[in-house]
Amino acid sequence: MLLERLDQIEQEAQGALAEAAAKEDLEAWRRNYLGKKSGMRDVLASLGQLPKEERPAVGQRANQIRQALEQAFEARREEVCQAEIEASLTAGALDVTLPGRPVQRGRLHVTTQTLRRIQAIWAEMGFQVYRSRDVESDEYNFQLLNFPPHHPAREMQDSFHTTTPDVLLRTHTSPGQIHAMREYCPDPIRVVLPGMCYRYEQITSRSEIQFNQIEGLAVGKGIRMSDLKGTLTDFARRFFGQKTRSRFRCSHFPFTEPSAEMDIECFLCSGEGCAVCKYAGWLEILGCGMVHPNVLKNGGYDPTEYSGFAFGMGPERITMLRYGIEDIRHFWANDLRFLEQF
Ligand code: PHE
Repeated sequence: MLLERLDQIEQEAQGALAEAAAKEDLEAWRRNYLGKKSGMRDVLASLGQLPKEERPAVGQRANQIRQALEQAFEARREEVCQAEIEASLTAGALDVTLPGRPVQRGRLHVTTQTLRRIQAIWAEMGFQVYRSRDVESDEYNFQLLNFPPHHPAREMQDSFHTTTPDVLLRTHTSPGQIHAMREYCPDPIRVVLPGMCYRYEQITSRSEIQFNQIEGLAVGKGIRMSDLKGTLTDFARRFFGQKTRSRFRCSHFPFTEPSAEMDIECFLCSGEGCAVCKYAGWLEILGCGMVHPNVLKNGGYDPTEYSGFAFGMGPERITMLRYGIEDIRHFWANDLRFLEQF
């Protein structure tokens, strides 16, 4: 009876082992057929109830079967491991003979390229880059720059206000002048301040709600209007070419006095008149002026001892002039057909 039971256990175990295909199946199999609760153990435990002369035969047979199952288990485990390795190798197969996929190279945005050229020229003239915040208070964006509340000049710079009263997105880079002065006072200053500005305006081919500016500020003793004109004229020659002629026209900004706008002779038609300069022969490139005494005071400088000049230009506008781009909306529309041209 017990011998038959043993044969039955062996057959069943071998059958189940052949079906085990993963490591977890093998563990379960080992618990079932070789573990403490296996059928084999039951048989061995009941040996004591057999007549003495039958015991050795059953014991021997049980041992043989256990050894056979252990060997079969090791062999099967080897097979399963091998199969798992092969499966993982073919699943992640790497064909080193395939040609490589081309890597798309990124590039700098055309405005960044222009900004960097402008900054490099100012760096040669001793101006450091000064980073100032995009989110400003009404005080810095307007009041300290000599725009009192309700001043009509504010209307030219319609603003994006935040839900916090008196906190807005800067409408120009000029508030950075105050930050720089308050940081450096009483030392002399030569900085350029690049960055994004925001205005609540109708979007057209000529105006966007966000655009870059690069501001310049020089403060020291004995700085005069002739320094402003000479330095900006030199900048225009370095940027647009040594033969570039320029002119200054009277203008108004609350934070500079006197104020001016600077034009360069149209580099496309050399002043003859063409579509880019709208037949004027001149292109406006920046606003500038001598820092207003009130602004110097707000920055911590005594206007009877110190003076300075400031300017602000739009790198997108300068890029448009340089490449004949007719619509400012291209800059932030993220169309690769535009961006890849530069
Ligand atoms: N902040 C002015 C503007 O946005 C430009 C400017 C800067 C003019 C510095 C004079 C001096 O229009």
